[in-house]
Amino acid sequence: MAPPSNLAQETDSILQHLGVDRRVYQQGTRIARSPATGVTIANVQGSDTTAIGNAIDGAAQAFQTWRLVPAPRRGELVRLLGEELRSAKDELGRLVMIEAGKVASEGRGEVQEMIDICDFAVGISRQLYGLTIASERPAHRMMEQWHPLGPIGVITTFNFPVAVWAWNAALALVCGDTVIWKPSEKTPLTALAVQALVMRAVKKFGDAPQGLSAVLIGDRDAATRLTDDPRVPLVSATGSTGMGRTVGPRLAQRFARAILELGGNNAAVVCPSADLELALRAIAFAAIGTAGQRCTTLRRLFIHRKVYAALVERLEQVYATAHVGNPLEDGSVLIGPLIDEAAFTAMQATLSEVRALGGKIIGGERCHADRYPAAYYVRPALIEMAKQTGPVLRETFAPLLYVMAYTDFDEVIELHNGVPQGLASSIFSNDVREVERFLSAAGSDCGIVNVNIGPSGAEIGGAFGGEKETGGGREAGSDVWKCYMRRVTSTINFGSELPLAQGVRFDIG
Ligand code: UN1
Repeated sequence: MAPPSNLAQETDSILQHLGVDRRVYQQGTRIARSPATGVTIANVQGSDTTAIGNAIDGAAQAFQTWRLVPAPRRGELVRLLGEELRSAKDELGRLVMIEAGKVASEGRGEVQEMIDICDFAVGISRQLYGLTIASERPAHRMMEQWHPLGPIGVITTFNFPVAVWAWNAALALVCGDTVIWKPSEKTPLTALAVQALVMRAVKKFGDAPQGLSAVLIGDRDAATRLTDDPRVPLVSATGSTGMGRTVGPRLAQRFARAILELGGNNAAVVCPSADLELALRAIAFAAIGTAGQRCTTLRRLFIHRKVYAALVERLEQVYATAHVGNPLEDGSVLIGPLIDEAAFTAMQATLSEVRALGGKIIGGERCHADRYPAAYYVRPALIEMAKQTGPVLRETFAPLLYVMAYTDFDEVIELHNGVPQGLASSIFSNDVREVERFLSAAGSDCGIVNVNIGPSGAEIGGAFGGEKETGGGREAGSDVWKCYMRRVTSTINFGSELPLAQGVRFDIG
């Protein structure tokens, strides 16, 4: 056997420091690689059928006691988790870089997103408000309570290997639910590290039930177990629309709840009045940041004909010079690797389709292949298209930006909405009429609609998710906590008569 690489050693030392049992990531058969170099960094143990069964049993049992712990006290566990994350921010951020290929500020940013949602959830733990409702009947009162729902399944993807779990778990835990997590098979190590941090917080908390958080290491079969188990009343699944088409109907079949956060095909509209320098910076971050591997990545750009030439020229400069490289070695890199060879192949296949349709492409080719033959670095691709057609209508998880010109505002709204997905959108304009129309019921049909910022990089305070083939789910802020609880409506009679609603009479004599 080859000696462990430097990266494997670094990974080992981070995992050791965060408290992950070595056997779990050194004695398994599932090879974990870093997309930055393609080298093996660990050999992870998969969860077999028994382990999966035990995890779900444990979460179901833990729910029986966790649901009875007062919500603000449950918030204390999430506060402790936030503290663990704060102290582990550098290491966990580095592990995100190693395992998902993110650049340093995005690796750390992802951990910050976890800390933010923990803080938010702690506040929510004292605000699980129900309503008191006026009754139409004399001496009656109506009210609503929110109760814990059960063990919650969370399925996440490689591109936000830890933050998306945190959006779900922090809320679920304060809501009195327990959490079973099936991370992406491409990023098991960050999940194991987070689970170790949860266990540290549990220990400090004192009397939380052990099974309240579990991780299933596996692929589709593990996810299916979670999706099909009648004890799991809600599964929150993030991933492709294809995945959602499998998970959604399975949950519907047993009337379980789903939070689906699926593919995006996000667009921006640049109007004649836009601040073009600001738009340029926002477009660059949204289109090429995270190597185009965010669900919120900007994929379609509609530019008004009056400003088209000027903005495309500036974009060409950015695309030609943006620094692509190994973020683990070079802090000035803006674009890290694609996650794996399959992502590269899919990108190249899409570029071939674009060529056949007459699209004009700048960039898109592989780079650093000599230095990293087992890693997939690409130049971001800027693609001018005459029409919104073919691959422009779907999500290719790579740094591909389709640029199209428009003349008429009504026409551009129609084009903007003319794709099957509906996650994130943005408009760059200083014309209040255009902005308000874009935000209105007749404007963008997405779940996220931004003004003078790009579609990606949302804060946790808002509800996150989108419409149409994006799946309709919402995660993170606002009143999303309600998705993790069951609502109880009660009518209380404090009189001695029994008046019926709607004036119904039922006199039994
Ligand atoms: C995702 O890509 O699945 O808004 C989540 C953003 C991030 C979350 C992206 N806060 O881009």
